[in-house]
Amino acid sequence: MSSAPPTRRELIFAAILFLLCALLSHNNAPSISDSLPKFVTDTIASPPASQVHNPHKVETRLSWGASPPETNILSHVPGWTIFDKLYILKGIVYVVSDDPSNVPDIRFMYSKALNIAEGKEAEDSRLPDASDIQVISPKQAAKLFGTGAHVIDGVSLLVNDPPQFITHYYHWSAELWFGFWRTYTSLDHGISADGNTTLPPARRILFNHLDNSRWRDYASMNEWVLRSSFPSAIMEFSRDWDDRTEMGRPFVFERVVVADRSAAMLGYNYARYQRTAGPPNALPGNMNWWQPIRNNVVEFAGLSGDVGGGTTSTPVITYISRQEWGRRMLRPQDHARLVDALERLRDEHGYEVNIVTAEKMSRVEQIRLAARTTIMMGVHGNGLTSLLWMKPTPRSTVIEFFYPLGFAHDYEYTTRALGMVHYGFWDAESFTSPNLPLPRYVEGFQGNDIPIDADAVVAVVMQRLSLSEEVDD
Ligand SMILES: *[C@@H]1O[C@H](CO)[C@@H](O)[C@H](O)[C@H]1NC(C)=O
Repeated sequence: MSSAPPTRRELIFAAILFLLCALLSHNNAPSISDSLPKFVTDTIASPPASQVHNPHKVETRLSWGASPPETNILSHVPGWTIFDKLYILKGIVYVVSDDPSNVPDIRFMYSKALNIAEGKEAEDSRLPDASDIQVISPKQAAKLFGTGAHVIDGVSLLVNDPPQFITHYYHWSAELWFGFWRTYTSLDHGISADGNTTLPPARRILFNHLDNSRWRDYASMNEWVLRSSFPSAIMEFSRDWDDRTEMGRPFVFERVVVADRSAAMLGYNYARYQRTAGPPNALPGNMNWWQPIRNNVVEFAGLSGDVGGGTTSTPVITYISRQEWGRRMLRPQDHARLVDALERLRDEHGYEVNIVTAEKMSRVEQIRLAARTTIMMGVHGNGLTSLLWMKPTPRSTVIEFFYPLGFAHDYEYTTRALGMVHYGFWDAESFTSPNLPLPRYVEGFQGNDIPIDADAVVAVVMQRLSLSEEVDD
């Protein structure tokens, strides 16, 4: 049949098809990338199929002659690594290098992705071995992979973590997303205050130890943050990883940021602050690094990205109350005195004062309020995670109440990593970086008898707001 000469009808049909294609290729409709203002389209990814005029073979493979191209490590700190050409075969990750002395120890890049438990034995049990990750020479790689590997294109994020810390707004947004973005933006030092970057968005996020319903949090914030910051990112889960494993064929990531909580915990900046997003802060970066994400999230909530900026607008003070939560609450009389003191500030100085209960607000309301907030305060807890959406300015401040002598770095570190100022309070006593106490979960930390001295808090608020005049001069 295929060897028979074409019939007249087939020829006419082919001619019509040809004309149609020619017409379509002259169509000047704006490309998809024109509607993505924050991200400049990349040099890495090929153009969308709709823009390619010449019919061609769909490229799925990276083929090579004698041996595969080496893996290039672009950025690395414990737990966070950017690779170009990272290979995977049968579930094992391969770094191909002719000079293994230039490759970080595998324990700082990857782990067995087991649940985090305390102690040396648990720590050792999480260390990777040759069944997880290997560093091999191009020669070994040629033997193992053959003549080519299938390409996983664009930029990917591979999260080699168990579900343990995924389904929680703080751990998702202020650790995983925060650390990923801080690592990735080490490749762009020119991010502007309005969040413009040359980096292409991540195309996919792979969770190789998570089954597919286990990344959302009880407050549904994770979805919001993901879909607003990377609207077209797709997700893969352990079943998808297993597909490739079972096929027994090599794949190669064009560019991948590998996140590994257990490996991050081996870093100095983890030991110092107990934050897995701590180590990437040692990478080169730029003070506006978070703004592409922050602005996209805030704009998705319906506000302009520059809301909250500047130092001359009416200050917005937001107290996030936990008094109805049932755990980690202020003494009722101290809460009442704080509310009175804040309302006096509003009446006497014209400041905007918001006293809110996070769990009674919708996601949009929480993000919109945080985006406008100059000074956020509250008892240590998840409600403070929305400090991520504040606009860093010389006035921006987070004030966190602890039971006296108790302290944890969660919000302190996050505030500082964004370029804002944090004050911790023990009743009337306050502290700020670099004079910080050591982390301590004292008795009473989780209780409902946390004291706070409203006058001391107001004094710090006034001191922070008076900075605006100094800055303007
Ligand atoms: C950022 O990009 C937008 C367009 O997407 C442009 O209007 C704006 O001027 C850019 N800002 C800077 C500082 O270059």
